[in-house]
Formats: sequence, C-alpha cells, structure tokens
Amino acid sequence: MSLTDSAAWSELAEHHATLATTHLRELLEDASRLEVLTAEAAGVHLDLTRQRLTGESLRLLVALARARGVDARLRGLQAGAVVNTTESRAALHTALRAPRDARIEVGGRDVVPEVHAVLDEMRAFASAVRDGTHRGATGARFRAVVHLGIGGSHLGPEMVTTALRPFVDPDLTVRFVSNVDAADLRRALTGLDPASTLCIVASKTFTTAETMANARAARAWIVDALGEDAVPAHFVAVSTDLDAVGAFGIDATRTFGFWDWVGGRFSVSSAIGLPVLLAIGPDAFDEFLAGMRAMDEHAVSAPLERNLPVLLALTEVWNTDLEDMDTRAVIPYASDLARLPAFLQQLEMESNGKSVDEDGAPVRVGTSPIVWGAPGTDAQHAFLQLLHQGTVIAPVDLIVVARAHDPIGDHQDALVANAIAQAEALARGRFAAEVAAQGVEPALVPHRVFAGDRPSTILMLDALTPSSLGALIALYEHKVAAAGALWGIDSFDQWGVELGKVLAATILAEVRDGVETPHDPATAATIRRYRARRA
Ligand code: F6P
Repeated sequence: MSLTDSAAWSELAEHHATLATTHLRELLEDASRLEVLTAEAAGVHLDLTRQRLTGESLRLLVALARARGVDARLRGLQAGAVVNTTESRAALHTALRAPRDARIEVGGRDVVPEVHAVLDEMRAFASAVRDGTHRGATGARFRAVVHLGIGGSHLGPEMVTTALRPFVDPDLTVRFVSNVDAADLRRALTGLDPASTLCIVASKTFTTAETMANARAARAWIVDALGEDAVPAHFVAVSTDLDAVGAFGIDATRTFGFWDWVGGRFSVSSAIGLPVLLAIGPDAFDEFLAGMRAMDEHAVSAPLERNLPVLLALTEVWNTDLEDMDTRAVIPYASDLARLPAFLQQLEMESNGKSVDEDGAPVRVGTSPIVWGAPGTDAQHAFLQLLHQGTVIAPVDLIVVARAHDPIGDHQDALVANAIAQAEALARGRFAAEVAAQGVEPALVPHRVFAGDRPSTILMLDALTPSSLGALIALYEHKVAAAGALWGIDSFDQWGVELGKVLAATILAEVRDGVETPHDPATAATIRRYRARRA
C-alpha cells in the first residue's frame, strides 16, 4: 500500500493545506512549538522549530509513522529481521556496536561473539602498528596508512577520520584512494615512503573494479620498492570474501572480516573503520562505537514523538511529499565535518533513491531528495544566495558544534553566529516594507527582498568527539530506515548502481582491447572519438 493510501495520510494532507498561507514568521511566534519540535538524545539536540510544522502537524505525522509501522521497522532492524527483502538479508549494522553480552541472531546463530572477535583483532593490530610492534618489511615503523576502497568502503572512514582530526595520532598520515582515476592514487602516494606505508584494501565484495585496480597498482608500488616478500607486512584487507583476499596475496592473519548483513554504506562501524581505529586508537574508537550504540538504543526505546531519527524522517516526508521540495542541503558549521555531505549522499540517496516499493509497485510519492552541501561559512559565499532568493526552495540541515576543540580568539562564536543567522534569515526573510524602511532606493527594493519561509533544521552537538560523531552517524542511519519504512521501500539494496558497472566493463574491453560491441550511434561515436583522441 502506498504512503498516500492511508487515512493517516489524508488527514495529514488536509491539515497541510490549512497551513498553505501561514508564513514561518508567524509559526515562530508560537512559543509552545519549542517544546514539541525540539528533542535531544545521545548528545545530539534536534531543533525543528524552523520547519513549517505545528504541534498538530507533528501529531498527524506521528500517526502516519504508526500507520506505516515505523516503530516495528526500527525494532526489526536491530533484531535481525530480513529488512533487505530483494536480497533476503538483514541489515544489522547495529550488531557491530552491540555490547559483548548482547545476543543477536542471524539465521539462528548469535553474531555478537564474531563481531567482538574481529573488533579485538582490529584493536590488537592497531595497537601493534601504533606502538611500533608491527613494522614494515625493512623494520621501519609505519608512518602512513593508505586506505583503498570506494563508496561505503571509503566515505565513512574518510569522513570520520577527517572529522576526528584532533584525535588523530600526529605521527600517522592517513590517506584515502577511491577513484579509478590514476590521479587519485598518485596524489595519495606522493611524498610517502613505501618502507613506512601500510596499505588497507577495503572492499566488502573484493570485486569492485576501482578498488581492485588501485590495490594492484599500490601492490606494484610496494613491490617495486621493497620486493615481493614485502607484501604480507605492508598489506591488510577488509572484506566479507576471505577467499578472494587470499587469492590477491593478503595473509589470512592480516584480513579483517565482516558479513553480508552489513550494507556498504552502513559499514563504518565494521572492520571498514580500521583506518579510523589506526588513526585515533582503540579507546577513542570504543567511544565512537559507544556513541552509535547510545543512538541505537534511543531509536528503539524513545516514543515516536521524541525519537530523533523518526522526527527527521517525518520532516523529510513532509518536505518532500507535501511541500514539494526535492533537494536538501547539509551545511555543517564545522570544517572537520567537511565530508559529511558526501557521506550522507551515499547513505541517503543509495538507500532511499528508489521508485518502486517493496512489492515492486510504483511508489507514487517522492522518495529521497537530492542531498548536497558544503561547510558553512564557505557555503554562504558560494550557494546560499540561491537558498535565500532563488526559485528553488530546499530545506537545510545546519550542523552546529557548541565547543571548538582548539579555539582561536572568537572564531567559534563567529562561526555559530553565522549558522544561527542563516537559520533566522531563511525562516523570517526580510519583506519589502522592511527593506524600504531602511531607506533602500525603490528600484532596488525587489532585489533586496527575502521571502523567507524557507525551512531549516539545527542539529547541535556540545563538541565534536568520537562519541557525538558516532551518535550523529547512527541518527542518520536510523533516519534512513525510518524514512524507508514510511515510503514502503527497500532501503538496503542498490540495484541502481549495477547497470553502469556492467556497461563500463563492456566499454572498457572495447576501448582498451578493441573488442567490438554493438552500441547506439551516439555511444559508438563517443567511443570512436575517445579512442582517436587518446592516441
Ligand atoms: O556503489 C555501489 C556499491 O556496491 C556500494 O554500495 C558499496 O559501498 C560500494 O559499491 C563498494 O563496494 P565494495 O565494498 O564491495 O567494494
């Protein structure tokens, strides 16, 4: 049944229509909204007061969540239910941070002991690298880690390592290579000494073309400098396919496993997080997992109206399907969170960028919006013009951190003042009479008017720590699951990336090896042009 078929939807849609002419300015004057449209959990404060919502909207949205079984979906997810129906799999990323004494079954087997066995191996390995017990083939200490992986095997670890910059061992350089563009690998290896470089090949399937190409090239870089025998000391792998790792020549004792019930984009708390663990050390990594766990617990225990992931998901449905907004900006007011928009792009769009429901029927509503963004205040000097005065209206997630880790003067106050100012400007705007009252020449008034009524959400962390970052990531993970339940889609498959992969393999054989394949005239012409220019 489509989202719009329920009685709860009809009631919500009717209510939505009654707000059509109400400006956010007016809504903001209602102090009672502060109580119902804000909530806090696991160190994350959520403020929805600048969304075009009232207490009544929230009540009806929560009724919709109940009608769509959102609470059951969130509980089922953590209990190991087969939520990925097209691949008949659980999506049990929450088991990766479950306490040692928890019991979570997949196919009748408790997976928690295996999870902790891998975590223990990762901790021991990271400690040995960090304290110099495990060294390179020449006896040199490892001073650099090069992580080779793409998609979920890249974006999470890179985003977290970048975000936790103040916690990273200053004697360790951590670089990420994802793109099959040789420039990516060249840039990562520039200035590194093979003798003191550890390479991590991270691929759930160990078949991803980009990662395998980069892994082979990195292997050649090590072998050229140190010889074939150096490979075992300089390479580790993270994968679910231990046989494929062995065939690549990486030792089983240097392989950290995970399981097919961990989706790529939900894998940062699995062994895919190894570069994070190497960078920040076992204690801080444990805090990161604890932050995620705190949000996991909140997601299944808080009532729907106080449940942060559910509130975010409901707001998304409101904005996408009633307010007709099909993009959402993510603007972190923390430079260290610069990679958060890219991480969320995969997490949200690969999960909920679907147009059929779990039964294969068209969804008939908008699903995931396009997620995009950049850090504030840079974003203000780039694209916020459009958000304030353009014809496209996009809700914005503003991520604000109250305490800077390493403050300089009044920078933090200036940063946060800007975030709050943007939220206020987007919501309230500045009307023609107000512009004119400032003495602006009449011809310029239309150019200086801000319509306002543009929604934003503020997510505030006390500080950017391993724990609060873990909670923030888990919040978005559960938001994805809750939104998927509302839309009735499978949030855990990604068939949409397959076609391009298959066609690229055929075209590679054609451009590289001259294997002729039938194509439409446009594709054939592009291939001919590339081959001619390449020469
Ligand atoms: O982009 C498609 C995808 O399958 C993602 O879901 C995944 O995160 C990425 O490729 C990398 O896959 P792997 O870890 O198997 O190399």
